[in-house]
Amino acid sequence: MHSLACPAAACSGDTVCMATITYKDLEVLFTRQQIAERVAEMGAQITRDLNGEKLVMVGVLKGAAPFLADLSRAVQVDATFDFVATSSYGKGQRSSGAVKLIKDLDEPIEGKNVLVVEDILDTGLTLSYLRKLFLQQRPKSLRIATLLDKPSRRLEKIEADYVGFSIPNLFVIGYGMDYAERYRNLPDICLMTPDHPE
Ligand code: PRP
Repeated sequence: MHSLACPAAACSGDTVCMATITYKDLEVLFTRQQIAERVAEMGAQITRDLNGEKLVMVGVLKGAAPFLADLSRAVQVDATFDFVATSSYGKGQRSSGAVKLIKDLDEPIEGKNVLVVEDILDTGLTLSYLRKLFLQQRPKSLRIATLLDKPSRRLEKIEADYVGFSIPNLFVIGYGMDYAERYRNLPDICLMTPDHPE
């Protein structure tokens, strides 16, 4: 019997479903329910802080997409979306500090309330780079919301204004976060162990 929990978009529903088996082997760190509750709280806080003003939500592709989609529906403000994409020069060389912008904002943010939306704040290199870049445009306000924060990994001095969950140095996947581009569509946040079968 095909499991309803199967997160694979292309799953055929056959009796043998590797995606389901793989997913069942993963340890869940935060369930979809826990995520939904925390995102609702974050949305309420952001709504209060905006005091009726408009907001530009800037998602950092690709990992922030599910979080931005949910957070945007938890804020009760007049909001627009924009997206940026960055890359580091090779995942293994991230500590070099070299972050490159591969997709810029579509619209100017001068004079606007900007909320940068991230799935995870790790070394801080990406958000430090983006913060500096965005501040050059003189937004009215610039805040950061991250669903996950790994403070022990920080290389740059940067903190988010809104943090969903603070976690130790664990390799997490799901709810936007990937391992070699897979698992982004898992509805829960799971732990990827080094010996996990691919
Ligand atoms: C992840 C995450 C952040 C960044 C955080 O993106 O979405 O953008 O890393 O890491 P840092 O604090 O060490 O800079 P990634 O480069 O993996 O791309 P993705 O969002 O497309 O998965």
